[in-house]
Amino acid sequence: MRRLECGKLSLSSGTGLFVTFEGGEGAGKSTQIRRLAEALKGEGHDVLMTREPGGSPGAEAVRHVLLSGAAEAFGTRMEAILFAAARNDHVEEVIRPALAGGKIVLCDRFMDSSRVYQGITGNLEPDFIETLQRIAINGVMPDCTVILDIPAKIGLERAQKRAPADGPDRFEKERLETHEKRREAFLDIAAREPERCHVVNAMQSEEAIAAEILAIVQQLKSPADRLRMPEAAHHE
Ligand code: TYD
Repeated sequence: MRRLECGKLSLSSGTGLFVTFEGGEGAGKSTQIRRLAEALKGEGHDVLMTREPGGSPGAEAVRHVLLSGAAEAFGTRMEAILFAAARNDHVEEVIRPALAGGKIVLCDRFMDSSRVYQGITGNLEPDFIETLQRIAINGVMPDCTVILDIPAKIGLERAQKRAPADGPDRFEKERLETHEKRREAFLDIAAREPERCHVVNAMQSEEAIAAEILAIVQQLKSPADRLRMPEAAHHE
């Protein structure tokens, strides 16, 4: 297969690379995604930045329902299914085509956020949440997941400083204890899936974090090694 040699990272043509960013509130994901995108573009890669919930017109329509808290009254299961519906639309309409076009896709939150926010702190059964994720991602597993780790209290303080005038969203407003539990849950995922997940200490300087993330991505093997869920059926 033809390989694109750009910078240190070499991509097989047509396979792209899928990198997701996860972590609690105020860990600096957006800043770091932007910095990584600039660095990779500087190396000549074609980069797509996207985010969840949202990232496609269908998913953006569901985003407001979720973040405003409009679905909260109907329970965590309802919210989890809405996140999954949005994710599947985003995958099929945006992420899969971009990867097929050889792009590097950088996504702010993905399936691990559902495992943590809805699964662990939403108390949903592990089987239910895993099945839902399998349907939502339909085989499009991240090649690499960067987990920005920060003590919940510090992350929340940072998030509150940049909060919009209308205050915290549906998930930010929860108790500190819940946010700490989420931090632990992200670290548990990283411990269970060490090949995919890389924990980065978000208490370092912005520059040091950016350098660490760039090094992680540059060390990735060819996306031909992408982990795909075996039973996934692709929509072509
Ligand atoms: P957002 O304002 O997009 O950003 P941030 O990632 O900076 O917090 O908020 C998204 C919120 O939605 C965030 O509190 C996490 C939550 N969320 C879930 O609960 N489940 C999910 O599957 C996703 C993608 C997000």
